[in-house]
This record gives sequence, C-alpha cells and structure tokens, in this order.
Amino acid sequence: MPKPMLQIALDTLTVDEAIENVEKIYKYIDVIEVGTILIASQGKKAIKEISNKYKDKIIVADGKIADAGSVFAMMFFDNGADFTTAICAAETQTIKSVLDTAKLYGKDKDVQIELTSNFNWKQVEEWKKIGIKQVVYHRSRDAQLAGVNWTQNDIKTIKKFDEMGFKVTITGGISLKDIEFFKDVNVYIFIVGRSIRDAENLSLEAQKFKDQIDKYYA
Ligand code: 5RP
Ligand code: MG
Repeated sequence: MPKPMLQIALDTLTVDEAIENVEKIYKYIDVIEVGTILIASQGKKAIKEISNKYKDKIIVADGKIADAGSVFAMMFFDNGADFTTAICAAETQTIKSVLDTAKLYGKDKDVQIELTSNFNWKQVEEWKKIGIKQVVYHRSRDAQLAGVNWTQNDIKTIKKFDEMGFKVTITGGISLKDIEFFKDVNVYIFIVGRSIRDAENLSLEAQKFKDQIDKYYA
C-alpha cells in the first residue's frame, strides 16, 4: 500500500499564525493547506505568502468552491495553489470549470472534490467522466462535535472510490489513533489540523503522525 502524505490544515485567522505553525512542523509534512477559514479571513494574500515561502511543498487552497468555478480557481492558482477544493454540492459544470482552469496553470495542478455526506453515485460517475481524479473524504467539524465517529461504512465508501480509480484524501478531526483505523485502505493524503495545531508541542505531535503513517503503511 503506498505511503499516504501528511497535510497540515491551516484553519487559522491570520497568515502569521499559520506560518508560525508551519515553522515548527515543516520537516514532517508534505502538503500545506491554506484552510477555508484562513481564506475567508485573509484570502489571496494568505495563499500567496504561504506558497512563496514553502516552494517545495504541495499547496492546497481549501476554497470549497460552490459556484463561479473559473473565477475562484483563477484567484487561487494565480497566487500559487497546486490544488484547490470544490464542494460536492457544486454543479458538475462548476467543477469542470475549476478543473479546466487548473489545467491552464499546469498539468499537475488539480481539483479535489470535498465530500460531505450529501452526494450520490450518479454525480461521482459524472465527476469521473469530466476527468476528476481526487476526492476528499470529509467528516465535518460540526458532525464530529455532534459525536459522529468513523465507521466501517466509511471504509466501505473509501474502498469504492479507490476501486473507481480516485485518489482519496481523508480529513475531519483526524487523531493519531485514526491512522490505524484506515490502515487497510489506500489513502493519498491524511489532512490533520487541530490535532497538530492545538498540541502543546506541535513538532512532537507532527512527528508522531509521521511515525504512525510509517508504522501502518510500509
Ligand atoms: C473543515 C476542514 C478542515 O481543514 C479539516 O477538517 C482539517 O482540520 P481538522 O483536523 O481540524 O478537522 O476543511 O471543513
Ligand atoms: Mg480544510
């Protein structure tokens, strides 16, 4: 099973705080996410500063684009994003527009469909048809707060996406012990936000996540 990458989700209110976080964990992470919250707070400036500073990491702008696909995509890719996200509720035309715009910036630029529990397999077939390669399997912060836990149903769904040829990224309050839970499925990236950012020692916590991934994915 290929080794998943580790992504830090920077859902901070300021880019300064985001950079302060990254400085402590830089060597353990592969992907840096300018979080939806940071984009709402400081927008293009945050994407630009972070992508200029960390040129050897994959930069994700977690825009959760719902409409006006090319307008948002241009703002994110112009400022250095490698990937952006579109929400699963978006019209397929919007998602296609984000993907087409991404490819104008380079063949490695890409779009990830951020899944809530509100999608259907007919949409998934449509995404496949237009060339979407990545999905983010996502437990919302609010669902997590309400006590929703990872289950075998999640594993089943992730396997189905994998069998259909999608790269699957997993996120939503991921804790250290969750890595073991997903050990039998192909995971492209584990996205971790609060479990690392809120830790007393960010560097140690990021290292633990990296070690845990190494332990369960040879
Ligand atoms: C929420 C997000 C977050 O970035 C993602 O859930 C990762 O953060 P955390 O580990 O804190 O849940 O996109 O919609
Ligand atoms: Mg995010």
